[in-house]
Formats: sequence, C-alpha cells, structure tokens
Amino acid sequence: MKILDSATHYGKATKILHWIRLLFLVWLLILVKTSYINLHKAFGIIFFVFVVGTIVWRIINVNPKTVKTNVVERNIQVLIYFLMYFLLFFMPIVGYLSSFKAINFGFFILPSIYELQWVDPFFNNVLFIDKYTFRYLMQLIHTDIMVISLYLLVGIHVLAVVFNHFVRKNGNIKHMM
Ligand code: HEM
Ligand code: HEM
Repeated sequence: MKILDSATHYGKATKILHWIRLLFLVWLLILVKTSYINLHKAFGIIFFVFVVGTIVWRIINVNPKTVKTNVVERNIQVLIYFLMYFLLFFMPIVGYLSSFKAINFGFFILPSIYELQWVDPFFNNVLFIDKYTFRYLMQLIHTDIMVISLYLLVGIHVLAVVFNHFVRKNGNIKHMM
C-alpha cells in the first residue's frame, strides 16, 4: 500500500492520522467530562501539534476523490473537511487563551499567557478590553460555539459515510480502512 494519497485513494499515512485524530478527540472529551481539566489542556496542546502535522500532510498531498459524486456534493465534502481542519486548528488556541492557570505537563510547565507581564498593558491599551472579559469570551467560544460546531460537522461527516455505505453501497468506508 502507498504512503502518499493518490487522485482516487487515501494512502496509509492519511488513514492512520485519521483514526488517531478520532482517538484524540474521544480522549479529550473523556478527560473534560471526568474533570481532568489539566490533562485535557495538556493533551489539547499535544493534539494541536498533531493537527498542524496533519494539515501539512493534507497540503503536500492531493485531496483524493474516492467516489463519483456531482460537483455540488464534492464541494460540500471539501468544505466540510476544510471546516473540520480549521476548527481543529483554532480550538486548542482558543482553549489555551481561555486558561488562567499554567498547564502542567509533568516534565515541564506551560505558563498561561495571563501570567506574563506585558499582558495587562497589552489588553488595556491595545485591545481596550480587560483580560477577564477576554478570557470569558474565549471560554464561551471554546466550550460552546466551537464544541457545538465540531459536533455538527463530525455528525454530518459520519452521517454522510453511513449514507454512502448503507444506501448507496459504494464502498466509501473502505477508503479509510
Ligand atoms: C482540539 C482540541 C480541543 C478540543 C476538541 C476540546 C474540546 C473541549 C470540550 C468538548 C469541552 C467541554 C465543553 C463542555 O463543557 O460542554 C472543553 C472544555 C474546556 N477546554 Fe477544551 N478542547 C481542546 C483543547 C483545549 C486546550 C488546548 C485547552 C487549554 C489549554 C482547553 C481548555 C478547556 C477548558 C478550560 C475547558 C472548560 C472546562 C470546564 O468545564 O471547566 N481545551 N474542551
Ligand atoms: C466514527 C467516526 C468516523 C468515521 C466512520 C469516519 C469515516 C471517514 C471516511 C470513510 C472517510 C473517507 C471519505 C472519503 O471517501 O473521502 C473520512 C475522511 C475524513 N474524515 Fe472521517 N470519520 C470519522 C470521524 C472523523 C472525525 C472525528 C474527524 C475530525 C474531526 C474526521 C475527519 C475527516 C477528514 C478531515 C477526512 C478527509 C481525509 C483527511 O484529510 O484525513 N473524521 N472519514
């Protein structure tokens, strides 16, 4: 099997990255729901590095067209993939900006930006918003807008895969196996 993607097939690397991405998201959700917030943050940052890697991988590869679809459907598919990558990129950044506490990785500690000295004057004199309001907004965006958007996009994505598998029976799921 090929490592790189081709015009009609995903390569080995994309398939592995796809399922690791799913595992990461489930893990992040488990951590936050069981209140391991520091671990959620630490794995969220590690996930960010992973996501950047997968975006680079998607850019240097072709975006395969695995099944025959019409132009509208294809464009919706590409748009949904784009939005998923977009969200996965910005979610950890906004999450980080919503954290007042330093993040403990065990072997090192990542400070919160709010602990840095230049932050207060920057917020007050450049952004004209105090850091408490800013942090509150970031948290709202992270835990509500972005989480809901991600659930929606993944929901549509999985429904599309299920529809292709059971109704159209075009063997779509095998393209990611
Ligand atoms: C793509 C990566 C991430 C995903 C998918 C994600 C997802 C989530 C989800 C599903 C929640 C629960 C929202 C709810 O309560 O309904 C949450 C909460 C939260 N996340 Fe993330 N997160 C990510 C990265 C991060 C990062 C990197 C940080 C901080 C450095 C962070 C900080 C937080 C905080 C502070 C909360 C609120 C926790 C609480 O309820 O007290 N997240 N995130
Ligand atoms: C049970 C869950 C999932 C199933 C069964 C599934 C299945 C698939 C399948 C069959 C494809 C190939 C479709 C095609 O022919 O183009 C695909 C592609 C893709 N999926 Fe999923 N998926 C799941 C979860 C997720 C999640 C959680 C994400 C990210 C938030 C995601 C993001 C993507 C992306 C971006 C692609 C395009 C290929 C790539 O760039 O990796 N999927 N998925």
